[in-house]
Amino acid sequence: MPRIAVLIVAAGKGERAGTELPKQYERLAGKPMLRRTVEAFAGYPVQVVIGAGQQELAAAALAGLDVPDPVTGGATRQESVRLGLHALGRDAPDFVLIHDAARPLVSRKVIADVVAALEAGADGALPMVAASDTLRRAGDNGQWTLVSRENLYRAQTPQGFGYAKITRAHHDHAGSEVTDDVALAELAGLKVQMVQGEEKNIKVTRKEDFAMAETLIGSDVRTASGYDVHKFKDGDHIWLCGLKIPHTHGLEGHSDADVGLHAITDALLGCIGEGDIGQHFPPTDERWRGAASWKFLEHAANLVAVKGGVISHVDVTIICERPKVGPHRDAMKAKIAEILKIEESRVSVKATTTEGLGFTGRREGIAAQAIATVRL
Ligand code: CTP
Ligand code: MG
Repeated sequence: MPRIAVLIVAAGKGERAGTELPKQYERLAGKPMLRRTVEAFAGYPVQVVIGAGQQELAAAALAGLDVPDPVTGGATRQESVRLGLHALGRDAPDFVLIHDAARPLVSRKVIADVVAALEAGADGALPMVAASDTLRRAGDNGQWTLVSRENLYRAQTPQGFGYAKITRAHHDHAGSEVTDDVALAELAGLKVQMVQGEEKNIKVTRKEDFAMAETLIGSDVRTASGYDVHKFKDGDHIWLCGLKIPHTHGLEGHSDADVGLHAITDALLGCIGEGDIGQHFPPTDERWRGAASWKFLEHAANLVAVKGGVISHVDVTIICERPKVGPHRDAMKAKIAEILKIEESRVSVKATTTEGLGFTGRREGIAAQAIATVRL
């Protein structure tokens, strides 16, 4: 099996995009673009090349991913690639796929086709798409000259090469200014094979490309439920959805026994496959005795954020005869939104009695069920 490495160049300034951060660190549908691009190559060893001074941005974008520390690139893309190739030389692969961080939508098929062309013996492989618009070249005096689009193609990345061959080409032709690696490979006389690219493999270049990329990404929407019950005990108040509410009884529990927040916490953990509240905050752990449950909820929200998730919505139903939830509903919504750092319109608090039936009907305790929706 040939050894394949992926070089992702992310050392640009993203001047044309004009975003607050260099474009590769801006969030795209909730996740830094660079993270999406690296994740697109899951299963391949990836080396990222970043700009000087971008270490912190890169560390945040790549947190938790199994990639080595990024290496520092140069003033041009070509220079960044050359430095990245040099770093890979410590454990040189057979093939290298060179890819723009600005193309987060690359598909498994394009990657596999590039690899297959290399395995079949090509020196290099280049994904391209045929030009489909009518093309004109801007001239002096406001003239626009028709350019035949016949036989015109747009080059994309990843561009794949034999590692030793492209490294030599970068070394031998370091002075020539070209915009991609295939152009250098050709200067070095390498045989490059075209493979089919994809329209959706866009290079995010201008600000408006972000909206297009987000549309193309669509979303991985997860929903999960959570359920909790606590029993009444003697007392004069309960904690419910983050509020202290005077009541004829208290609620039994290791923490503050806030059923509403516990149900929402479990729903959020469910969306990211992270077990349940008991796993994260064991009732046997003294640290959580009497703990305020907003800490549990905040922890779950942080875990969602670390995975690049965005909370779209949480909905909780409190099931009890008493206390009446209605008078507290707006304050509960505001509290939950504050803990989750989302807009109040993304929080719903409902309540019902069980018409005197069952344990809630007998006023033995309070139950809560929640549904959370997370976009990853
Ligand atoms: N790139 C790089 N090193 C550079 C310049 C560019 O690694 N000195 C990377 C970019 O980060 C990007 C890819 O090369 O992933 C393609 O370049 P481009 O889309 O032009 O990005 P920028 O150069 O950042 O954008 P701009 O040209 O608008 O400033
Ligand atoms: Mg550029």
